[in-house]
Amino acid sequence: MWYLLSLHPEEEAKLHAELDAVLGGRVPTYDDLEKLSYTRMVIDEAMRLYPPAPMLTGRVARAADEICGRPVAKGTEIAILPWVVHRHRTLWEDPDRFDPQRFSPQRSTMRPRFAYLPFGGGPRICIGAQLALTEVSLLVATMAQRYRLKLVPRQDIVLLHRVTLRPRDGIRMQLEPRH
Ligand code: HEM
Repeated sequence: MWYLLSLHPEEEAKLHAELDAVLGGRVPTYDDLEKLSYTRMVIDEAMRLYPPAPMLTGRVARAADEICGRPVAKGTEIAILPWVVHRHRTLWEDPDRFDPQRFSPQRSTMRPRFAYLPFGGGPRICIGAQLALTEVSLLVATMAQRYRLKLVPRQDIVLLHRVTLRPRDGIRMQLEPRH
């Protein structure tokens, strides 16, 4: 998320404006979260482009079925790839673009339910999703209120998929106080 914000100063400025307007320098509390709607859109959009769990595996078809016209035999192993679904051209407009506003309530209504699944879906959906979203929103609000994170130039950022997705060698960023 910090990497994406550092490449998109307009979106970063909108985030800062919301934090300044809602919090005015206060430490955020749980009750502030419903007012931090753009903050949440930035988090959602970062998890769309870089889903922490890019591949869900271990599924076996319990019965013969059909997915998008393709027959699936009983016993077939199935993997679900949020990485692919989240960037699919038939589901997302301009899928590779960082555009937090696509998670506005208006633009979210038309989207199929499973087009976005950073926490999985169905009976095995993440039980920690609400805790994780609360934690990350409070962290982002606290940090972005005080600092801008600037990407250190000339570094190779390589993605590594080991159950979760991460930058293989980290991402070097410079903290700059905002006020
Ligand atoms: C941003 C943070 C997190 C992300 C992106 C995430 C993502 C996921 C995903 C995608 C699954 C489904 C795996 C599958 O279908 O194979 C899952 C399952 C699970 N998550 Fe999370 N998770 C997060 C945080 C947490 C936290 C904070 C907790 C606990 C406090 C947690 C506990 C679990 C558990 C127990 C399951 C297994 C549920 C089951 O199989 O019934 N997760 N998580």
